[in-house]
Amino acid sequence: MSNFVEIKNKVGKFKKTITVPGDKSLSIRWVLFASLAKGKSKSKNLLMSDDVIAAIKAIKKLGIKVTINKKVCTIFGKGIEGYRYKKNLTINAQNSGTLGRLILGLLVNSKNPINLIGDKSLSKRDFSRVSEPLSKFGAKFKLRDNNFLPLKIYGSSNLKPIKYYENKGSAQCKSSIIFAAMRTNGETIIKAKKSRNHTELLCKHLKLPINVKKYKNFDEIKIKKIKKIKKLDYDIPSDISSSAFFIVLTALSKNSELTIKNVNVNPSRIGIISILRKMGVKIFFRNQKTYKGEKKADIKVISAKNLKAINCPPELNSGAIDEFLVIFLVAAKAKGISYFRDLSELNHKESPRLKWAEKILNNLGVKTITTKDSIKIYGNPNLNINFNKKIIIKNYLKDHRVFMTSLIAALSFGGNWFIHDKDSINTSFPNFLKIIDKIKK
Ligand code: S3P
Repeated sequence: MSNFVEIKNKVGKFKKTITVPGDKSLSIRWVLFASLAKGKSKSKNLLMSDDVIAAIKAIKKLGIKVTINKKVCTIFGKGIEGYRYKKNLTINAQNSGTLGRLILGLLVNSKNPINLIGDKSLSKRDFSRVSEPLSKFGAKFKLRDNNFLPLKIYGSSNLKPIKYYENKGSAQCKSSIIFAAMRTNGETIIKAKKSRNHTELLCKHLKLPINVKKYKNFDEIKIKKIKKIKKLDYDIPSDISSSAFFIVLTALSKNSELTIKNVNVNPSRIGIISILRKMGVKIFFRNQKTYKGEKKADIKVISAKNLKAINCPPELNSGAIDEFLVIFLVAAKAKGISYFRDLSELNHKESPRLKWAEKILNNLGVKTITTKDSIKIYGNPNLNINFNKKIIIKNYLKDHRVFMTSLIAALSFGGNWFIHDKDSINTSFPNFLKIIDKIKK
């Protein structure tokens, strides 16, 4: 089967209601928490993508039984000391930074050393950002070139609490430290730049000994050793990061309207909504509810008429970190020069995304000025690509968001696109193209 998609036509007008799959961050966290719980935990609407399946395989290797039946996933946790595994175990986090980094926090007290490996993309990403703070608890690490996978973790039975300043706004780093702190005598104190707070909300829902004080620019999180995790049944809401592609497609199309049902709209995840609203896109939340500490809602978007450029406030960055590629497409069509800064983290994702942004936008004929942590985008409200202009996107690190952003660009602006590495969507959004087809019909 060919691994590319050819797009020749823009999308026509549409008025649709769609549902996107379960949230990836919550799905991976549910798998990890349930693996330490005592008893049977069940989830509905768990994202069945490669990243989450890698998490399930990882806990199975740690001796935890998992069944998947009629869309219900059941994890048979054996309690916080319940992992059993053979010597010289290797866990493969595949493409998932979240799995690779979070699981290390759970393994700081492992009795035998464990190897952690990943795919080509994950093997280029920084792991010292978690191995360094985790070493302070007392675990030891051997990393390739002191920074990269493959790595080996040597757990300790004598873990000490730490004080840690998380200054990147990385929820993966913060969560990894929270997990390690749960296994440590004494109190760990984390000062964390704002980032998604699903781990803290799950800890609170499970009544674990965590205390979060919110300040303007950071949170102070105090966490103590846990004794037990109760079983955790969870109905996973849909992923705002997957929704983002359709929100932007609607904003950039003519006379269209879209509703996306039951999406997780945790305030730490909705940077894209704040940014697009500032740029003139009409987005509404309907049926707002709170579920186990998380906010969810149906999202309604309407095609935008007069898009305005934005000087994007950096405090919105962490809440939109996975959405910037697709947000930049809106800037491409806005009136004026948009400016996004303090975004060095974008080049630490599945591929160097700031560089990709420049490539995709320049292919559209949009002028950009990029530095190592910022991008200026010279918007053009009449942006329209000639139907016979050939644009080829090959992304050898198989970054799912590069593929999906390119597809949205093709459907929004025209041109004759050949977008390779279709299978990359399996990491986060396997039915992405099916939903695109539903919207096109
Ligand atoms: C995630 C955190 C973010 C995000 C990733 C998922 C999480 O990464 O980019 O897709 O679930 O904690 P960082 O923590 O590196 O910013």
